[in-house]
Formats: sequence, structure tokens, C-alpha cells
Amino acid sequence: MSNYVDLHSHILHAIDDGPGTLEEAVDLARSYLSAGFDTVVATPHATEGRPETGLILERLEELQEELKTLQIALTVLPGSEYHIEPKTLERLRSGEIITLNNSRYLLLELPFFQPLPPYTLKLISDLTSAGYVPVIPHPERALDLQQNPHLLFDLHAAGALFQATWGTLSGRLGPAPRSVVSFMLEANLVHFLATDAHSPATSLLQLEKPLAILTEKKGEGFARSVTTDRPAHLIENKELDLPPAIDQSASASHSAYYSKTPFVSRLRRHLGR
Ligand SMILES: [Fe+2]
Repeated sequence: MSNYVDLHSHILHAIDDGPGTLEEAVDLARSYLSAGFDTVVATPHATEGRPETGLILERLEELQEELKTLQIALTVLPGSEYHIEPKTLERLRSGEIITLNNSRYLLLELPFFQPLPPYTLKLISDLTSAGYVPVIPHPERALDLQQNPHLLFDLHAAGALFQATWGTLSGRLGPAPRSVVSFMLEANLVHFLATDAHSPATSLLQLEKPLAILTEKKGEGFARSVTTDRPAHLIENKELDLPPAIDQSASASHSAYYSKTPFVSRLRRHLGR
């Protein structure tokens, strides 16, 4: 399997914790080709309007030109990994945030170690009402979601989709994220896989083992869908045909609790606040 489309990549140089130089960015592009990708969305870290859109586009253009000159056939598209903040919708509307290939889909990062902000669910719901589709990158790395993966159902019900990291499947990010991804796979909540690659030598581009695990668990069709077909549709700003979430592990009382208790109350309760 190949022709992968990566929706989450720190391939741009001198803009975040990705490559420091254009040469390193080119090396990363070569690594992507070797791993079987033909398209990558460049998603540098961004928040509160920084770095400015103009700088992201400038770096992107530099890389695209260099790849063209060197005849490296990797398509690199604009995007950002936007860390959640209260003015996210406002900034989207004013053009301060680059969505994934300028589509309706926004890579919206949640905190890893801090609690999810109390406005999370409302923001996701507001973004959805405004016609955007928030895609949460690596939810398996957020401590709150590791401690209570059922919160994923609330985020999804509000309109969020989820992108798991390839490397999580093979345990490269540790046992807790792997266990969340297993939960997500059973619940139909892995909508996309992406690499989150930051450097050419990264083990996050070693795909054989995660692909074997994914195929064994969910079949070849699913693997193609989350690595290739859905990401390809997303970058064309198409609507996605997604299966409904399945809450197999919920007991009747658990379901009742989830349907009756607001997200923020549950979040506080599970955090002991
Ligand atoms: Fe990232």
C-alpha cells in the first residue's frame, strides 16, 4: 500500500520544532517519499495567531520551489496545527489561521498535560455550526483523554473528528496512548492516521509495523481509508462518509450518566474538582 496522504507534518523549516534548515526539510521530504507518501500537509505549530499566516506560506513556498528544482515529487500543501484557544473561531473568520489545505477542516490541538479547557466542547460546537470541521490530532496523547477516553464521544458528538498517530499503534509513544488508540479503533473513532513527523530520521515514518497491526485489527479497507482515501478527500474539502461511533463498553448506567451529565461537569468530576 502507498500513495499515503499525511495530514499532520512539521516539514517546514525554521518555524517550529521541525527541521532547522531548508536542507533538512528536503531530507524529510525524501523520507516521506521512501515511506510511501505522495502528499503531505505542512502543519507547523500555531496558536493565538502566531506564527503569522504569511510566514507559514513563505516557508512553504521556499520548500515547494526547492523540491521542484531537485525534482522531488512530493506535494506539500498549506496547513497548521492550531493549539486550542478561546478566540479560535474569531481568528479563523479573520483569516489568521490556515486550515488543512484551506479546507473546512482544521487541525485543532488539545493540551497534553493540562486539563482540557472548560470551553472545549462549546468551541467545537461553535466551529461546527460555523461550517468548520475540527480534527483533533493525537487525542491519545492528552492526559485527560487517557484518564477518561469516554470524553472522546462527547467531543465527537459536538462535531470533532480524530487523527491518531501512526507510531502510537506500534507503541512508539508509550502504553497509555496505545491503549487509547485501541479504544478509539473499537469505537470507530479513528478517522485518520498521520505521522506528526518532525525530522528525516524519525521513527514515526517507519510504517510497516503500525500498518500490520492496523490491518490485522481492522482490515485492509479500513487501513486504506484512514491513511489514504479519507485524507485525500479531506484535502479536496469533500464531505466525508464516516461510520457512526460505537460505545461498546458502556453499561446502561454509564450511558445514562453520559447522556444526562454535561461534559464540563463530568470533566470536573473526573478530575476531582
Ligand atoms: Fe504536531
